[in-house]
Amino acid sequence: MKFFIDTANLNDIKEANALGILDGVTTNPSLMAKEGIFGDQEVLAHYKTICEIVDGPVSAEVIATDFEGMVREGEILAALHKNIVVKIPMILEGIKAIKYFSNKGIKTNCTLIFSPGQALIAAKAGASYISPFLGRLDDVSTNGIDLIAQIRGIYNNYTYDTEILAASVRHPMHIIQCAEIGADVMTGPLSAIKALANHPLTTLGLEQFLADHAKGK
Ligand code: E4P
Repeated sequence: MKFFIDTANLNDIKEANALGILDGVTTNPSLMAKEGIFGDQEVLAHYKTICEIVDGPVSAEVIATDFEGMVREGEILAALHKNIVVKIPMILEGIKAIKYFSNKGIKTNCTLIFSPGQALIAAKAGASYISPFLGRLDDVSTNGIDLIAQIRGIYNNYTYDTEILAASVRHPMHIIQCAEIGADVMTGPLSAIKALANHPLTTLGLEQFLADHAKGK
């Protein structure tokens, strides 16, 4: 499973990248706003900086909600760097834009997926990635992991190139469950990625090894 980090925070991106296990980055307008990044030029410059840090797909989201606007914004984003993936919301205008970019060989990430039907139509349009938001489903008492499993089952019946990018990951168990189901990619915060390495027995065991080694000094 590929690991993407879901943030626009440059320090977190650098820290995750330094681990050597980072495959890409996802952002969204809320994550950009959280970092105080506003205005077209500032946003574009920030995407470029991210692309210079991580050698992998970087999802950059359009703001327009009509086909022409998405195409206009998506083409500007795609021209920024070869690693940019144009992130497009799951609406019918978005499906048209995904098909347009697919025909041009520009990668897309269809975001805000909450149902298997949405995942199916995005794959048919040629989305490179679809982003089911599992944490947000959990937030409304619906099992987000079940959706990932359902989409995996549907995609396994066919030969779509679309990758399942499990999004809205909140904690390490989400990552493990995504890997068990066979999500192609997960995107989550640095905290969830780092938490995978933790185990109290590892901590205790290492302390003991170092203490025993020190006895010989
Ligand atoms: C996906 O690409 C989104 O940026 C993200 O995963 C949403 O996560 P949230 O539900 O924690 O905001």
